[in-house]
Amino acid sequence: DDVRLWGGRFADGPAEALARLSASVHFDWRLAPYDIAGSRAHARVLHKAGLLTADELRRMTDGLGLLEADVASGAFTGTVADEDVHTALERGLLERLGPDLGGKLRAGRSRNDQVATLFRMYLRDHARIIGGLLAELQEALVGLAEAHADVAMPGRTHLQHAQPVLFAHHVLAHVQALGRDAERLRQWDDRTAVSPYGSGALAGSSLGLDPEAVAADLGFERGSVGNSIDGTASRDFVAEFAFITAMIGVDLSRIAEEVIIWNTKEFSFVTLHDAFSTGSSIMPQKKNPDIAELARGKSGRLIGNLTGLLATLKALPLAYNRDLQEDKEPVFDSCDQLEILLPAFTGMMATLTVNRARMEELAPAGFSLATDIAEWLVRQGVPFRVAHEVAGECVKECEARGIELDQLTDEQFAAISPHLTPEVRGVLDVPGSLASRNGRGGTAPSAVTVQLGEVKADLAVQ
Ligand code: ARG
Repeated sequence: DDVRLWGGRFADGPAEALARLSASVHFDWRLAPYDIAGSRAHARVLHKAGLLTADELRRMTDGLGLLEADVASGAFTGTVADEDVHTALERGLLERLGPDLGGKLRAGRSRNDQVATLFRMYLRDHARIIGGLLAELQEALVGLAEAHADVAMPGRTHLQHAQPVLFAHHVLAHVQALGRDAERLRQWDDRTAVSPYGSGALAGSSLGLDPEAVAADLGFERGSVGNSIDGTASRDFVAEFAFITAMIGVDLSRIAEEVIIWNTKEFSFVTLHDAFSTGSSIMPQKKNPDIAELARGKSGRLIGNLTGLLATLKALPLAYNRDLQEDKEPVFDSCDQLEILLPAFTGMMATLTVNRARMEELAPAGFSLATDIAEWLVRQGVPFRVAHEVAGECVKECEARGIELDQLTDEQFAAISPHLTPEVRGVLDVPGSLASRNGRGGTAPSAVTVQLGEVKADLAVQ
């Protein structure tokens, strides 16, 4: 019983080594429900074209229903001998309908246009799943920001104390990045809503089939492809999906790295919930941020999936080449990894405890209010170049004396510059500094409230 779809011109069956190399059924089996949906739509256009009678269409549809149930229950599965999911399901249909009717379905289609279509359907479904999980993380982060709306922390550049910021402002910066990732997924989905079915092997079909009807049937809102060669050979939709998932991984890794740092004894900014931390097999006291570390690690894997895929596509001549069978495992893996990572990551962020006292103790440390002195001087009419210089001298004086800026006496301020009147003290506290940065997108509580409203409105329509 030769299950091959191409046995006709061959005298010998495939070598076992070839069969093992060629087989994809162990990873493309997840396309089976989409393959059956495609077959159902294809049977309908064969009927419309007069190539299946109404009775044949009914029996075909029933046979596909039986096959679908057996695939879902596990009663029917593909084997290495089947090579791929498409061949396996054709065997399943032949077993259920007999060769005369079962053998009619393949007319006018090829595994090349099938796989390109099913792959789009699969990834579109998973873009939605990942988008949903991402929204849950965004909501958890918004909750974290809202619950600590008035907590100040040291804002950093180069990982050095820079200027005080609201913790909520910092957290919302990550929400903004994730919001763009979610938008990328939606825009990708719109671009990918085009069906290659009907492209055949590469040149289209001579059987008068209706690709637009198949596209509508399968939920491709933007119809069928305008070029059958492009339809079967292009995989930029896969590469773009791999990029978006890699970008999500990278954005998670940036949050993860901060959680790891914040969770150290030295920082002590946050404490992770027991349910979202792990212990050590030897050191009884350990409580490790493994979720954050796995996020950091998996981002490397997601990047690898993207770069491997791009290397596979590079210089590949049109149209279909078997190299393209290597397109699926990387992005299936990217889906699997994010779908397993995101819920754990969201749980970690939703349950972490913020050490407000520690953050606020460090917010003004490291002379992080020096910029406020310079900007106060500018408001008194001093040119910024001079103001910067004067504020720098205040820092130098403090470093020499081992004190903080607000510990300088009125006399010491005046000795540095006559412009430094005692009124400068008004900006030498964190709440004053925060409140002064009240332009759009700034860290003032009033501006952060506006931002929070915008982010929540965005999430509500997502
Ligand atoms: N399994 C193949 C893939 O995933 C589709 C089959 C096309 N094979 C062929 N010889 N044209 O790309």
